[in-house]
Amino acid sequence: MPFSEEFLEELARRNDIVDVVSSYVPLTKRTGANLFGLCPFHGEKTPSFSVNPERQIYHCFGCGKGGGVVNFVMEIENLSFPDAVRFLAQRAGMEVPDDGFDPDRGKRSRLLELNRDAARYFHERLLEPSGAPAQAYVEKRGIVPMVKRFGLGYAPEGWQNLTDAMMDRGYSRQELVDAGLARVGKSGGLYDYFRDRLMFPVIDVRGAVIGFSGRILSDGEPKYLNSPDTRVYSKSRSLFALNLAKKSKSGYILLAEGNIDVVSLHQAGFDSAVASLGTALTEDQARLISRYTTQVVIAYDADAAGQKAAQRAIGILQKHDLKIKVLQIPGAKDPDEFIQSRGPGAFRELIERSGNQIEYRLEQTAAQFDLKTDEGRLGYLKAAARLIAALPGSVEREIYGMRAAEKASVSADAFLTEVARTRRQNVAAARKKQDREDSAPLRSAQPKSRQLRFSNVRSAVAEEGVIALLCRFPEMFAGDEPLTAEDFTSPVLGRMYASVLERLRQGRSVSLTALGEQFSPDETTLLAQLLQRDDIPASAARQAMDDYIKKIRAEKEKTALDEDIRAYAEKLKKTKGYGKDGS
Ligand code: CTP
Ligand code: MN
Repeated sequence: MPFSEEFLEELARRNDIVDVVSSYVPLTKRTGANLFGLCPFHGEKTPSFSVNPERQIYHCFGCGKGGGVVNFVMEIENLSFPDAVRFLAQRAGMEVPDDGFDPDRGKRSRLLELNRDAARYFHERLLEPSGAPAQAYVEKRGIVPMVKRFGLGYAPEGWQNLTDAMMDRGYSRQELVDAGLARVGKSGGLYDYFRDRLMFPVIDVRGAVIGFSGRILSDGEPKYLNSPDTRVYSKSRSLFALNLAKKSKSGYILLAEGNIDVVSLHQAGFDSAVASLGTALTEDQARLISRYTTQVVIAYDADAAGQKAAQRAIGILQKHDLKIKVLQIPGAKDPDEFIQSRGPGAFRELIERSGNQIEYRLEQTAAQFDLKTDEGRLGYLKAAARLIAALPGSVEREIYGMRAAEKASVSADAFLTEVARTRRQNVAAARKKQDREDSAPLRSAQPKSRQLRFSNVRSAVAEEGVIALLCRFPEMFAGDEPLTAEDFTSPVLGRMYASVLERLRQGRSVSLTALGEQFSPDETTLLAQLLQRDDIPASAARQAMDDYIKKIRAEKEKTALDEDIRAYAEKLKKTKGYGKDGS
């Protein structure tokens, strides 16, 4: 089922993490055993992403991501574990053992074949005479020339057209359901999920048909029906038309809301249009975009919902260091409508004249204030200063600062002073936040009650972990007991551990009621917290337990060492006559 250990070891040997990481991230700094670069998983200006060549691991001190080489590839290429393994195998020119190691792989490729056959089926239905309703629709929308490029299709009226056709081709009921193309009806029979709709295949960057959107031909609901998530399709990780847009030479990705917008845009020559279908833009989609471009032009609907979605998208895209422009589409509800009425040239002008996101945000901010009043101008000034203070470059700050000052009719100097003040505040606040975060884990690990304060918080955190895991997975200590209560640095936790173990040994369950009477109210509160914890998934429990035990032992050794040193120092004092009683 999984890859063999030997194979994975060989894979890791042949894919040095430094080489693999370096092909995405220049590792420009060396500190001790670690190489450092800018983290590819979160936006940053100073490197906190480290790679340790000796241990073959990476870790980002900024966002906390970390792992081995396979992990890295999963993250950065957006791949499942088996796919990341295959990716690395190919990179190293290794043969992937094919003896049924991945039970899902066969199923996935069957679903992809089924999707491809379904797309072909829909496309053929659109082209033949009985596809008249869909033909009329694409004509009405003015996108006939795009039928071929997008592989548009028609899911005919009726309940079992596709199902019958695909079963004839040898696909099973289960496969049709798994692909999200058919559903099981009340009587147990299958029925087509997409009926009487214009079909848009969703094609991934490798050219595989992974899902569909189906638009209703008339005025019904829902207007769009999308494939459910399947083994091969994850809506939040895919973008419609990225297969085409990735080849664009435009230098930017145009992000629209709907399928028809995208098709219209491509027809008008904007061949880098994509859409996230039926979801707001996700982090995964932003990362996917950032693999193909550094600049995004957002062309969402002109309505309030679209503008709100644009604001959200800006935040997400910015994290991935993408430059962002936001189009405002005058006199039309969406890019499609604008292009159909005003033509491609007018749309190109919109792109060229559109401001970058800071201009857009300043516009939005200005609209919230009445600039004819002193009060309104002051409000705008403060809000605008906040926006501009967040810009990284001093030239940018100056340019936009001057523009904003002009708008609020105040002197540029006064405005830039306000910006500088805001920046100082931001820097101070950021530093404070960082300090707080740095000391937070240990401080917050202390119990609320003063009586219970831990003398060694590091060890106590692990001790708590042991108790919590033991309560949830009693079978973990079946037979052996790697720790005794004396190993615990916290006497309270030691007692809890002993009690829990005692009950388990008696074959009884662990509950607060059963244990409550042995502990004070404060202690019971702590115990309750431990019993509630479920922060570690069952699959990681064994590993977590081992880690906790190691931690406890390590802390114990440290303390023992400290004591040895203290004792030794005492002895020295005495023998050398440094002590009080020395003579
Ligand atoms: N939507 C969706 N799934 C899709 C496409 C769109 O769920 N595959 C949603 C969008 O998120 C939006 C709504 O459906 O909320 C309308 O999408 P939009 O593209 O704005 O459609 P319209 O412009 O209204 O319709 P048309 O297809 O005629 O352009
Ligand atoms: Mn539209």
